Amino acid sequence: MNILLLGKGGQVGWELQRSLSVLGQVTALGRDSTERCGDFANPAGIADTVRALRPDVIVNAAAHTAVDKAESEPGLARLLNATTPGVLAEEAAKLGAWLVHYSTD
Ligand SMILES: NC(=O)c1ccc[n+]([C@@H]2O[C@H](COP(=O)([O-])OP(=O)(O)OC[C@H]3O[C@@H](n4cnc5c(N)ncnc54)[C@H](OP(=O)(O)O)[C@@H]3O)[C@@H](O)[C@H]2O)c1
Repeated sequence: MNILLLGKGGQVGWELQRSLSVLGQVTALGRDSTERCGDFANPAGIADTVRALRPDVIVNAAAHTAVDKAESEPGLARLLNATTPGVLAEEAAKLGAWLVHYSTD
């Protein structure tokens, strides 16, 4: 099983790198990854990553988690927490892949 983990360096992503590794082949990307785009500010790049890797499962632990900053930069917060996860959902649907997305309200 090919697993694409996004947001690998965060609190959740770091733990998922370990726990997912027993389930299959994990490609773990972060915002600054150079081998593939893992930057949620670049939804087209994220779509390209999914199309290239064709994962069976996408696990998204990337998010704009700074609540106070989200209020002062709502455009970026929406891009990272809504628009790009939406792109992930569309790409997952095209592949028949699962998308696991962590969020709070
Ligand atoms: N921690 C919890 O107990 C908990 C509980 C329930 C739900 N959640 C949810 O789980 C998700 C992750 O939470 P967390 O606690 O792991 O947060 P976190 O430690 O703040 O990690 C957030 C991750 O998002 C990444 N990120 C930020 N901007 C990005 C961008 N432009 N492109 C790609 N990645 C970007 C960060 O990368 P950088 O390191 O490069 O900034 C970091 O890896 C969130 O949706 C949160 O609401 C967490």
